[in-house]
Amino acid sequence: MLNYEKIKNDFPLLSKQINDKKIIYFDSSCMSLKPRQVIEAMNEYYFEFPACAGRSSHRLGELVTKKIKGARQAVARFINADEQEIVFTRNTTEGINLLANSLDLRNGDLVLTTDKEHNSNLIPWQVLIKKKGIRHEIVKSNDDSVFNFEKYKELVRGVKLVSMVHTSNLDGATIPAKEIIKIAHENGALVFLDAAQSAPHKKIDVRDLDVDFMAFSGHKMLGPTGTGVFYGKYNLLEKLEPFMVGGDTVEYSTYTDHKMLQSPEKFEAGLQDYAGIIGLGEAIKYLEAIGFDNIREQELKLNRYITEEISKFPKIKIIGPSDSALRSGIISFYIDGTDMHQTTLILDEMSNVMIRSGQHCVHSWFNDRKIKNSARVSLYFYNTMDEAKIFIETFNKIIKIL
Ligand code: ALA
Repeated sequence: MLNYEKIKNDFPLLSKQINDKKIIYFDSSCMSLKPRQVIEAMNEYYFEFPACAGRSSHRLGELVTKKIKGARQAVARFINADEQEIVFTRNTTEGINLLANSLDLRNGDLVLTTDKEHNSNLIPWQVLIKKKGIRHEIVKSNDDSVFNFEKYKELVRGVKLVSMVHTSNLDGATIPAKEIIKIAHENGALVFLDAAQSAPHKKIDVRDLDVDFMAFSGHKMLGPTGTGVFYGKYNLLEKLEPFMVGGDTVEYSTYTDHKMLQSPEKFEAGLQDYAGIIGLGEAIKYLEAIGFDNIREQELKLNRYITEEISKFPKIKIIGPSDSALRSGIISFYIDGTDMHQTTLILDEMSNVMIRSGQHCVHSWFNDRKIKNSARVSLYFYNTMDEAKIFIETFNKIIKIL
């Protein structure tokens, strides 16, 4: 059971007002709000020990090193990995670029994705098609926007890497990752999961999934901006050649040679965002205390209500599965031929309801279907039924002029 009074006290933005009205923040798939515990942990770094980790052996340096280790342990625990398997990055995009540039992909190697990939899990492969001659195939979803298993089983034969979005930022649908991974492995393929939209909302156990590589962002799960995680099975990370090298990635160097460190150091070149990483560790502790069952329950309740209400308008089309329980905290909708930007601007103007409109970096999906864009409500556990009702009341007024 969520304690909303505590949550409201923890998230400064939930008490703020614009024009004497509270802010209704429904854009957490882009950027989650941050609790004060995260902000304070970052401030503590800057005020108390703003030094380098892993290098300086003075007291401040040692303290940062210890805090970064603590954050890495928290992330490892969060996804049931080992510490050495956790590489800190700036975001999910950087994790995918790390993989695309480090994995030994060659001319003719096939990468398999879904038809709902964020540009982050599409453009790196398109670049490698040009650069190295790799191939790329897409598993098209079935009519209700659900993962098409039959198609997948046909296409996975001979694939080198299955690289798929775990929960879609377009419609909130989650693919059956465990079965997908099992079949990929039976076919000799490696699997990468883009967990940017799943890690904040559901328990992920990398050992249970048996996933080879995974990436997610801190900023969508209560953490600071510009923080992310790349996970890989240790034996696979050992084989990856880092694509960014330099400071703190080597054991030693001479004028002509060097010896690389092991994972994760070899992937974390240069000084890192220590305050951000420490903040991410706090975010994880906060999420663990809230609990994924509570998160899911709140998202399901609000998603069901909003879906039922906006489905009353015949011209509204919701992207993704019709069952709201299959769409996590996302309700992405559009009206044929209508630019949904206008809707989001009016929602903000009238009632401080903040949602995102556009193609959500999944341009390929919209362009293929010739749909202009969508308006997307994305919820998190700190959203309430009162907020959902204000959104619907305001939307009821706006729909008349659309
Ligand atoms: N991927 C982010 C979103 O869906 C930016 O909003």
